[in-house]
Amino acid sequence: MSIDFIYSDLMWAFFFLVLIAFASLSFLGRKQSDTRRKQNTTKLPPGEMGLPWIGETMDFFNAQKKNKLYEEFVQPRIVKHGKIFKTRIMGSPTVIVNGSEANKFFLSNEFKLVKSSWPSSSVQLMGKDSIMEKDGERHRFLRGVIVTSFAHSGLETLVSKICNSVQLHISKNWHGRGMIHLYRSAKVLTFNVVFECLMGMKVEPELLPTFERVLEGVFSPAVNIPGSRFWRAKKARKEIENMLVKVVREKMKEIMEGRLKKEEEGLLLSKLVCGIINGEITEQEAVDNMVLLVFAAHDTTSFAIAMTFKMLAHHPDCYTKLLQEHEEIRKEKRSGEDLTVEDVKKMKYSWQVARESMRLHPPIFGSFRKTIADIDYEGFSIPKGWKVLWTAYGTHYNEEYFKEATRFKPSRFEEEEATRMGPYVYVPFGGGPRLCAGYQMAKLNILIFLHYVVTHFDWSLLHPHEPISFDPLPFPSLGLPIKISPKISLTAPSQI
Ligand code: HEM
Repeated sequence: MSIDFIYSDLMWAFFFLVLIAFASLSFLGRKQSDTRRKQNTTKLPPGEMGLPWIGETMDFFNAQKKNKLYEEFVQPRIVKHGKIFKTRIMGSPTVIVNGSEANKFFLSNEFKLVKSSWPSSSVQLMGKDSIMEKDGERHRFLRGVIVTSFAHSGLETLVSKICNSVQLHISKNWHGRGMIHLYRSAKVLTFNVVFECLMGMKVEPELLPTFERVLEGVFSPAVNIPGSRFWRAKKARKEIENMLVKVVREKMKEIMEGRLKKEEEGLLLSKLVCGIINGEITEQEAVDNMVLLVFAAHDTTSFAIAMTFKMLAHHPDCYTKLLQEHEEIRKEKRSGEDLTVEDVKKMKYSWQVARESMRLHPPIFGSFRKTIADIDYEGFSIPKGWKVLWTAYGTHYNEEYFKEATRFKPSRFEEEEATRMGPYVYVPFGGGPRLCAGYQMAKLNILIFLHYVVTHFDWSLLHPHEPISFDPLPFPSLGLPIKISPKISLTAPSQI
């Protein structure tokens, strides 16, 4: 090899190195200026992130504990920063959004731009295979099974089952008593109704405290140390799981041996078990979704019932009108005759009252989403991986949507006025692909319970100004004790 050749090789290598260095520098320079340009155009929403990790968590929890999350945390920040603002809660950068446009944008973009986001404790306790953790096709499939099981049973069957459960509950727990904790009573009833209507099961009263122990851990830190709330909740979840696995396996045997009763075919439990037999659903999915449904139905419906009674007690003119509606329905019934779907359809004013009560006291404050892409919204950028909290209060308490927003006025939901209400304004049941799957059942439960109570008892609140607490959902702090006395009526009594 000649020296010339070596020399020219070295020249080439040197030239090459210079070229690479130049290319790298210009690439880095371009990248830096890209980042700078991006930083200039990236406008995060206004708001304060507070200290690292902690952020504004303490303020958030303190307000939540008093059930004043909107008044003490959200509203003052709306005044300071506007309807969309950033904060940091439990380590997560979070954007809180308010207003019907924001509700629509974030709720309807589920799976595309955002996905539902629950704390680790909730996921572990409700189960990672429940509908709340599923996306896209799997979510659509499981939701289909749940919703069609309600539709398949038919409204008439649902009404008849709820009537039986309500009458049984009242005759066992209300008669002969002068005082009832209404919220507690509604909880026991809702628990029985869910098991009866979804699984065709009568449950032992001892099972309710076990379920409640699970609920207590749902929003507590996921620390599995003996004695902690989460540890107790996990133990309770295991007990429930063992019980439900047995129920599922027994039902599977029944179906495979052709012993399933005709009237049980439409039940959610039967549908889930058929799904297991056909290889479409796993046993864990069936169990997790049953646990989730009890959780989703239980505290929400009981709180809605409790708040409806509370608002009626504070508005005697509304109560007179509501009572008249129920007395008219009752007058048309023979002794002991159950309500029908047609009767429930006549409870128009009662549903206005219940809706207005849920506007002022939404059982669910709102819920968290996680962004799965960088989002540009209203001139702000929300980076991928941040949390978004949409709120029901942000529209329910806004004068832009509801004049005299803090006033109890059921006539807002009269047909004509309600049709003028825009979409995503009234959102106690959420919206978009995750709209509450149990809306119909909640409505029937509230109206039928109202009917039997107001037509059979005179009642009054024992503590008219009882505060609302929060753990992990809102509840009347004393359980809404009411004084009751059986009605002496001249019209034909329905037997309870
Ligand atoms: C007054 C009573 C109720 C209220 C206020 C309520 C409220 C809500 C809300 C706001 C959501 C949406 C949560 C989100 O977007 O993250 C939801 C979802 C859900 N609710 Fe309800 N709910 C009630 C009763 C029920 C009942 C009785 C059931 C079933 C028996 C039920 C089953 C569900 C299910 C399965 C979901 C999840 C839907 C999905 O992810 O696709 N709810 N509910």
